[in-house]
Amino acid sequence: MTDLHKLIALLPKAELHLHIEGTLEPGLMFSLAARNGIELPYENEESLQAAYHFERLQDFLDIYYAGCSVLLQEQDFYDLTWAYLLKAKENNILHTEVMFDPQAHTTRGVPFSAVIGGIYRALTDGYEKLGISFRLIMSFLRHLSAEEGYKTLREAIPFQGWITAVGLDSSEKNFPPDLFADLFESAQEMGFLTVVHAGEEGPPEYIWAALDLLRASRIDHGNTAMEDSDLMDVLGIYEIPLTSCPLSNLKLKVISRMEDHPVKEMLERGIKVTVNSDDPAYFGGYLNENYFAVADALFLSREELVQLAKNSFEASFITDGEKKNFLKKVEEASGN
Ligand code: ADE
Ligand code: ZN
Repeated sequence: MTDLHKLIALLPKAELHLHIEGTLEPGLMFSLAARNGIELPYENEESLQAAYHFERLQDFLDIYYAGCSVLLQEQDFYDLTWAYLLKAKENNILHTEVMFDPQAHTTRGVPFSAVIGGIYRALTDGYEKLGISFRLIMSFLRHLSAEEGYKTLREAIPFQGWITAVGLDSSEKNFPPDLFADLFESAQEMGFLTVVHAGEEGPPEYIWAALDLLRASRIDHGNTAMEDSDLMDVLGIYEIPLTSCPLSNLKLKVISRMEDHPVKEMLERGIKVTVNSDDPAYFGGYLNENYFAVADALFLSREELVQLAKNSFEASFITDGEKKNFLKKVEEASGN
């Protein structure tokens, strides 16, 4: 391990962009399939993993939603989330803000309560047994209608106290944030914060719309902000965090080489950018691997790596007091 890799492993970190369904490892997928009597269209884990070659976001999403078919019972969602939390512990993640896609399950007849119940039970166990604090983000699928989004928002009402923010994910191109302006306004009236996937494959206009119409507190990905210097200025001035996902960007061909990843330039331009794993079971690495990848390809300095770890807590949805405690831990681990 290089010194920088050791520093990364030692740094306390928060993860702010993580789809719990994207942590479904092939081994767990096959064991849940067997437990639930579901036939997967792959003979074994190797042939499943051989299919993990993506030319674009949609290629991945097709496999991601197919993988979700093994998740049926509350216990399945618990096991999925618990497996992620063990990985989070290994990666020195002290705080995680987990996204889930209820519509990927309720559209298959799985009750909303089973989905959120299993995830939340594992997260509270993770807090008690592993010391990992958490927030929960409920994402709407943008390839479905705003009407369907409203149905999901209504289903969330009994569990409102468990959810901090709503998000918007799935196929970005041709599904601009504008379509969900009313839905997000209703969600905000209910007290939810908002985050939005924007600028992963979509143009900078989608990031503007996420800010202006959906009032996003954070932008998930935000790569194409680099094409619009006025937008970069706004992100800097208003300290709007970007939750960037390097290995995801490479796997989904948002960038063609890790050397082209914008995270370093974003840092240099004073943007509150963070590093995250998105869907680690599909993209070849959990959080530390994402830090390693950008550290190596972009020759990030110790100071830049410490800044990324600090940004992860500063950009999170915890209280100022909690932020202060975590930032102190980052300082201690960085030797300052
Ligand atoms: N759902 C899961 N991962 C996603 C990503 N990277 N972009 C959009 N939707 C997603
Ligand atoms: Zn994502």
